Amino acid sequence: MELSNIIAGLWRQPEWNLEGAALAAWTREVLDLGVDTVDLADIYGGYTVEESFGAALGADPGLRRELKLITKCNIKLVSERRPAHRRHGYDSSCAHIVDSAERSLKALGTDHVELLLLHRQDPLMDPDEVAAAFSSLEASGKVLDFGVSNFTPSCLDALQSRLERPLVTNQVEASVLHLEPFVDGTLDQALARRFRPMAWSPLGGGRLFAGDGEQEVRVRAAMARVADELGESVDTVAYAFLLRHPSRLRPITGTGRLDRIASAVRAAEVTLSRDQWFDLWTASTGAPLP
Ligand SMILES: NC(=O)c1ccc[n+]([C@@H]2O[C@H](COP(=O)([O-])OP(=O)(O)OC[C@H]3O[C@@H](n4cnc5c(N)ncnc54)[C@H](OP(=O)(O)O)[C@@H]3O)[C@@H](O)[C@H]2O)c1
Repeated sequence: MELSNIIAGLWRQPEWNLEGAALAAWTREVLDLGVDTVDLADIYGGYTVEESFGAALGADPGLRRELKLITKCNIKLVSERRPAHRRHGYDSSCAHIVDSAERSLKALGTDHVELLLLHRQDPLMDPDEVAAAFSSLEASGKVLDFGVSNFTPSCLDALQSRLERPLVTNQVEASVLHLEPFVDGTLDQALARRFRPMAWSPLGGGRLFAGDGEQEVRVRAAMARVADELGESVDTVAYAFLLRHPSRLRPITGTGRLDRIASAVRAAEVTLSRDQWFDLWTASTGAPLP
């Protein structure tokens, strides 16, 4: 299944003041920009975002056919919407994964999602239990593909060893302010296994623009120089930095502003030179290359 290069993240949707028909109209504009994939999770908005997005899908019934939906499971938050949860924890048991996915479908008002991710690496994860849950959800047509998020390469390998089909992604934090996946084996594994990873907080959760730490100040100055050379905006350069990696990372936007999503889409047309890319890298690390 092909997902768009840029994915629209809905984590911050409760801040946008967009519900129902207005959220449906926003989603249509996102589609018109060429972004056909939406990133959700059961827990977003304290278990409310899937329901809000389901209401938007209900307001424009044609939308569902054109969209690919990602949702996630395995984090348990204490919430009045989940009275059975006694403490914040993780649960990758077969029963929890199946129950969580089914609740997600109900909230979204759909009979399937394109992709289900295990949200966090769970030290108590039994790969055989996850495999049983994935088989059941696949057999019933409720989930088309499976992946993980925030997994180390070895944990992904352990899970993969019990699955018949390949995991299609590892969704991890990655940005010019957060380079760990470039060096800790995460992106190497994506290359080796030929899947496309996804980058959450591609603008450092906004720190790229608002942060006043030494790293942010250095990176902002370097980004401004590169943006000037290319005649592009700083946010486009931040997305282009990720898209330049051969694993073909898919950035997930966090903004509700359509002009800012358009800046992300533009990044696919921009190729940073190696010099520009390493200027940003060394601005981030604060040290010359060895
Ligand atoms: N798997 C996981 O564990 C995980 C964890 C976190 C997030 N995610 C996913 O990743 C998505 C993106 O994460 P994120 O929201 O942290 O992404 P982000 O793009 O790094 O940060 C978004 C923040 O940056 C601000 N921003 C964007 N463009 C800006 C600009 N040009 N100038 C100034 N500020 C700007 C936004 O403000 P405005 O809204 O005002 O534009 C928003 O507050 C989430 O929606 C979620 O789907 C996944």
